[in-house]
Amino acid sequence: MEQLRSIAEVRAWRARQAHAGHRVALVPTMGALHQGHLSLIREAQARCEAVIASVFVNPTQFNSARDLDAYPRDERGDLKALEGVGCDAVFLPSVEELYPQGAQTRVNVGSLADHLCGATRPGHFEGVCTVVSLLFHIVGCDVAIFGEKDAQQLAIIKQMTRDLRFPVEVVGAPTAREEDGLAMSSRNLRLSAQERCLAPSLYAGLSEASAAWARGERNPDQLKALARARFASKARVDYLELCDPLTLQPLNAHHGRSEALIAVAAFLGEVRLIDNLTLTPSSQEL
Ligand code: PAF
Repeated sequence: MEQLRSIAEVRAWRARQAHAGHRVALVPTMGALHQGHLSLIREAQARCEAVIASVFVNPTQFNSARDLDAYPRDERGDLKALEGVGCDAVFLPSVEELYPQGAQTRVNVGSLADHLCGATRPGHFEGVCTVVSLLFHIVGCDVAIFGEKDAQQLAIIKQMTRDLRFPVEVVGAPTAREEDGLAMSSRNLRLSAQERCLAPSLYAGLSEASAAWARGERNPDQLKALARARFASKARVDYLELCDPLTLQPLNAHHGRSEALIAVAAFLGEVRLIDNLTLTPSSQEL
């Protein structure tokens, strides 16, 4: 696996792929890689001849210096994991490489960033879109893979890609889960033993709502109440919403003829976890 630290090295690698007739897939990450990330690499490998991951803890998407400092970093472990899964190249830029002194342009995403995570994390999605558009420009990828766990991020990146006419196919890959249902996340490493035991209750709640949806329940308040009843009492819910998967607007009533997304963000101690499930209409409703 080639380790690339400068933009020039990435461009030279990309040119060699083009010369070999390879399509390139990018998997952007912030490192501390787990099986969920590796499933994104496998998805990328299934779609393109050459796969590059980026590992960069992006300072512009953090709301507090404390959260940025606390973000887990493990370059050696990340390289080993990427080698193990057969990734072709990894881009490991420094902060100065992506944000040289004097850089001030930011990519602003509009109203999709106003709800859910955006409501309590001002500027977060601006930071995400800024770094993702930098990566798209630098790598010149044909395909980019993002996890469906970050449903709002995925919707916003798809919108940005359309709006800015990036010639990139943005693909969402299913959420990888631990055996007890907890969505895999680098943040899980920061949970105490007790919080780790309580964390799967978020998925249990979403699954309860999903089961009720499958039985025909369409009332958003009822679905949310069923989910909330399963959450551990120690979980501090930031939001629990039933929303339109494309516009992310909360649904106050649902006719059942289209998909809905039930999404949660909750704190266990200091750690903020997110998860979601897509609720699909029954065949009779379509
Ligand atoms: O989902 C993430 O890990 C990050 O938000 C991303 C897309 C790598 C941008 O820094």
